Amino acid sequence: MHTVRSHEKIPDESYRKMVLTLMDRQAGREIATAEVFGQCVIHAPSVDDKIRITRYQNEELKHFKLIAKLMAELGVDIDAYVRNRQKAGARFTGDEADIGVEDWIDATLFNFMIDRAATFQLGEYIKGSYLPLARANEAIVKDEEGHKSFGEVCLVAMCRDEATRAEIQRRFKKWFVAAMRIFGRPGTPGNRYCIEAGLKTRDSGEVAAAYLDSIRPVMAQCGLHFPAGGELGVELAPQTDLSMSPSGARATVSAGRTG
Ligand SMILES: [Fe+2]
Ligand SMILES: [Fe+2]
Repeated sequence: MHTVRSHEKIPDESYRKMVLTLMDRQAGREIATAEVFGQCVIHAPSVDDKIRITRYQNEELKHFKLIAKLMAELGVDIDAYVRNRQKAGARFTGDEADIGVEDWIDATLFNFMIDRAATFQLGEYIKGSYLPLARANEAIVKDEEGHKSFGEVCLVAMCRDEATRAEIQRRFKKWFVAAMRIFGRPGTPGNRYCIEAGLKTRDSGEVAAAYLDSIRPVMAQCGLHFPAGGELGVELAPQTDLSMSPSGARATVSAGRTG
């Protein structure tokens, strides 16, 4: 599939529908992330941290606007989209009530895991055939790199305290599941279509595996481990590796088994 340079050059209805689906998912998450950052501000331990989080929140809303502009070109009523709480709020766990940030531990786990998952997912769109979406995400990913680094620094610092580390491990699953949901189910017809149409380069399972490889060393440094696959309640690709062995030296475990 050749590069599609603008919405006027969209080749057919299937392509149009899939581009809209990808943008709908991303836009929903951008606005939901801004809302979650609103909760994080309450728990940020210092004024500098509060300023930083409000800057991130502002950036997420700008990300939303970049994608919303492309959706509007394809006929989406953005004002109605923003008003629809079902779309805006329930993007991470499927249950809006469940993305509550209770304290700075939740805020840090959110920042460490969700922004990094977004970076991997949006990296696929940058390489994708729909040029307006690729261009928008080049700008977005630059911001996300900063967000995820902050999450990592906070996580490493907090895990030096044994009791805090135990609490972080206890809560890890909730935020991990939310991060894995960003990639979507592996091996679906939608994934196959996206690869054929050049909208993505890899199946969701492969993107998720690359994400896990990137958080594994940080978790090892923190003394954390992945939850068992069977406990997660999300469909994992066969190549999903929830072990803590460094990449290359491990055997792939099948999805659903303890890592
Ligand atoms: Fe974002
Ligand atoms: Fe972000």
